[in-house]
Amino acid sequence: MTALLEVEGLVKHFVAARSVFGRPTAFVKAVDGVSFSVEAGKTLALVGESGCGKSTVSRLVLRLIEPDAGKVRFEGRDLGALDDNALRAFRRDAQIIFQDPYASLNPRMTVSQILTEPLALHDLVPAARRRERVEELLQLVGLEPRFARRYPHEFSGGQRQRIAIARALAVEPKLIICDEPVSALDVSIRSQILNLLRDLQDRLGLAYIFVSHDLAVVKHIADRVAVMNLGTIVEAADAQALFAAPRHPYSRALLSAIPVPRPQAKRSRIVLEGEMPSALNPPPGCRFHTRCPYVIERCRTEVPALLADGTGHATACHRTAELPATENIVPADGGFSPALEKLIAAFGGGVEGGAGTGVDQSGIRPAVA
Ligand SMILES: Nc1ncnc2c1ncn2[C@@H]1O[C@H](COP(=O)(O)OP(=O)(O)O)[C@@H](O)[C@H]1O
Ligand code: SF4
Ligand SMILES: [Mg+2]
Repeated sequence: MTALLEVEGLVKHFVAARSVFGRPTAFVKAVDGVSFSVEAGKTLALVGESGCGKSTVSRLVLRLIEPDAGKVRFEGRDLGALDDNALRAFRRDAQIIFQDPYASLNPRMTVSQILTEPLALHDLVPAARRRERVEELLQLVGLEPRFARRYPHEFSGGQRQRIAIARALAVEPKLIICDEPVSALDVSIRSQILNLLRDLQDRLGLAYIFVSHDLAVVKHIADRVAVMNLGTIVEAADAQALFAAPRHPYSRALLSAIPVPRPQAKRSRIVLEGEMPSALNPPPGCRFHTRCPYVIERCRTEVPALLADGTGHATACHRTAELPATENIVPADGGFSPALEKLIAAFGGGVEGGAGTGVDQSGIRPAVA
């Protein structure tokens, strides 16, 4: 069975600086050889610190931007080779919702207008039936039909995210990319939206790419997890396997930074030493080598390939086979290094990229957020 979505060797470098003659002199290697697939009706979580390239991958998958290299196949067809009609059909099949629903909902349109727009655009429902369909959509996301006449500012953050979800659902998509959909919401609202997304997946057979800087958020929604660091995937596995026994030193550090709810379930935190590197000038060899507690000489020069074992658990690390078992993760007896503090902050929730939260790996501000 072919997957719903297959991504192969995606590359996207942005020009970060030019000479006085306009020649590019520096690139942000935002996405640097990313491959994964998403099965119909399943959730792939794409996790990593702010600036590691998650949103760029999302935009590449939807073909909102063109890749420098690599392929995206949807239902077996190469998106790069689609004609206008086929691309239009794809734009119906694949939707996106963002971190900040307020920014993505037109403040001058009522909910009814917001939800009718895609119906009209794709000529899905006859004009006479659209009102009914709007009510159906609102019910689907747990909002009352009478809300149709209201404007976005009349809703709470969680309700606005429900409206954004309803708009995505209007065109009956097969895939929704959820780019940090709960990162801007109050912690108390997050699980409601996550539950809604899961419920909709069950009822409608949707596939998700669920983008998050917060591993804890992903734990309850992902079927498969891909961990990204500086534009590359360092580990990909079924969610259960990854959460039970992460293999890559970076994934282990991220997991050790998730707060443990039960006090008796102690977990040691891995202290990452070294400077936070930048996507503007990623380190040679393994991109994690400047922070990895297990670094050896080879890591500084040789890029580790992402290799899967027989179970489909893939790791990009020269030392996968030699690393200690997860239970023996190096204990953090000497407190936390500044790098780990930043890492914990980045994964501790809050608004991505907001004050004191996300760690931008680029060292520069994104031109397009
Ligand atoms: N349009 C752009 N121009 C230049 N740099 C960009 C652009 N979009 C993203 N970047 C850079 O690419 C890197 C990855 O960004 P992004 O995909 O937004 O990361 P994430 O979603 O994981 O936080 C960052 O270093 C960001 O600054
Ligand atoms: S390849 Fe080397 S530096 Fe990279 S994660 Fe593995 S041990 Fe660490
Ligand atoms: Mg992002």
